Amino acid sequence: MTDVNHPPQDPENPAVAEGEELSADNREQPLSFAQLASSGHAATALKADAEPVLTVEDLKMWFPVKSSGLVRRTIGHVQAVDGISFQVPRGGSLGLVGESGCGKSTTGRLITRLYTPTAGSMRFGEKQVDIAHMSNRELKPLRRDVQMIFQDPYTSLNPRHTVGTIVGAPLEVHKVVPKDKVLPRVQELLEIVGLNPEHYNRYPNEFSGGQRQRIGIARALTLNPKLLVADEPVSALDVSIQAQVVNLLQELQAEFDIAFLFIAHDLAVVRHFCPEVAVMYLGKIVEIADRESLYAHAHHPYTQALLSAVPDIKSAGHGRRERIRLEGDVPSPINPPSGCRFRTRCPLAQEICAKVEPPLLQIGPRHKVACHFAGELGQHPATPVTAGLLGVDRQGSPDPGTKPQPVGTNPGYDKEWFDLGSQQMVSA
Ligand SMILES: Nc1ncnc2c1ncn2[C@@H]1O[C@H](COP(=O)(O)OP(=O)(O)OP(=O)(O)O)[C@@H](O)[C@H]1O
Ligand code: SF4
Ligand SMILES: [Mg+2]
Repeated sequence: MTDVNHPPQDPENPAVAEGEELSADNREQPLSFAQLASSGHAATALKADAEPVLTVEDLKMWFPVKSSGLVRRTIGHVQAVDGISFQVPRGGSLGLVGESGCGKSTTGRLITRLYTPTAGSMRFGEKQVDIAHMSNRELKPLRRDVQMIFQDPYTSLNPRHTVGTIVGAPLEVHKVVPKDKVLPRVQELLEIVGLNPEHYNRYPNEFSGGQRQRIGIARALTLNPKLLVADEPVSALDVSIQAQVVNLLQELQAEFDIAFLFIAHDLAVVRHFCPEVAVMYLGKIVEIADRESLYAHAHHPYTQALLSAVPDIKSAGHGRRERIRLEGDVPSPINPPSGCRFRTRCPLAQEICAKVEPPLLQIGPRHKVACHFAGELGQHPATPVTAGLLGVDRQGSPDPGTKPQPVGTNPGYDKEWFDLGSQQMVSA
């Protein structure tokens, strides 16, 4: 039923028309991320000493591919996520970036347990309980703690429900407040996200894109989550509105101590919001580091290519003056390349890259990279840095003279790491 006082409007022409009293989206001056940064709206700070709220270890999601016909047999698997490990600190944000189809959303859906992983563990909360294979009943309390903000504010809100119903539904499902307290809580949440609390009885199509995303954020906040998976939360929004929504998320994070897994393909947005960033390629994490190390000292050829395509990062004086164009398409995750999955597009690939998968090697206090020839742009070494650690020769064949060492097994950071210059383990 439509509210006769507030009839739904054309989605193309939402309630931002004349005379409408609406949120910050329409009143604030549009600011780009570069302007925001220079106007003193600080990027989110790193919480280096925070305990992890989430520890993901060797996580895999392989979707079966079925044959056609009456008897549908499994004839292969889409290796959407294939053995990723990382941590999200309590109240901190980890950015997840990479080209389309690299497995970002699948990772988000695994963490919110919309999918059950094929393998691996996901330890969550203070007790770091493994939630990877919990039953729905066991998961119920957890669902309150892990929420998701979806990419598209136009399709993620039910057009037939009022904002009050949408935001209040989780309260009713989880019975966290008495019925008569649902509306006051909904109005409080609307206010928190910068919407008029009196608009609880309006419908989603009466709001602009930015306002709808604020509704989606209010819904995600309803149950006081500890972790929010934000899957491309601003990419469907106009660029000026993007900055405001990211600012809102920053403010909410600071106020409510919420951790974020922030999925995006826009490296400028991620740089502003995430003090730590993981780069994915074809189901693997190829580089993960704190913001400064990743944006100023990327060591993986894929990260370097991604960064070279971002104008304001390119011009920031980190030696990425020319755009690096990657040849060819991303290979199929059903039959990924052997060894390093990036090798079919990598300008540096050598024999070892086809034979041996590069481990995610820690090369700094908060920097890991998976490349046999890891190095800053223009300074990649001529011989594989990983060979000695993996017990192989330069071509990647087993070397009886060296003993393989366990590398890249810790989902967090070790106190010691492999120094690429001296080729030795060092510590701070
Ligand atoms: N339910 C599914 N069944 C089979 N394959 C799937 C399923 N979901 C995703 N995939 C495949 O897994 C791979 C990773 O998909 P995913 O949606 O995680 O990528 P993404 O990084 O989020 O991409 P985008 O940036 O386009 O959103 C893709 O090849 C996709 O086709
Ligand atoms: S391991 Fe080889 S193919 Fe892979 S990124 Fe490094 S140089 Fe390129
Ligand atoms: Mg996606």
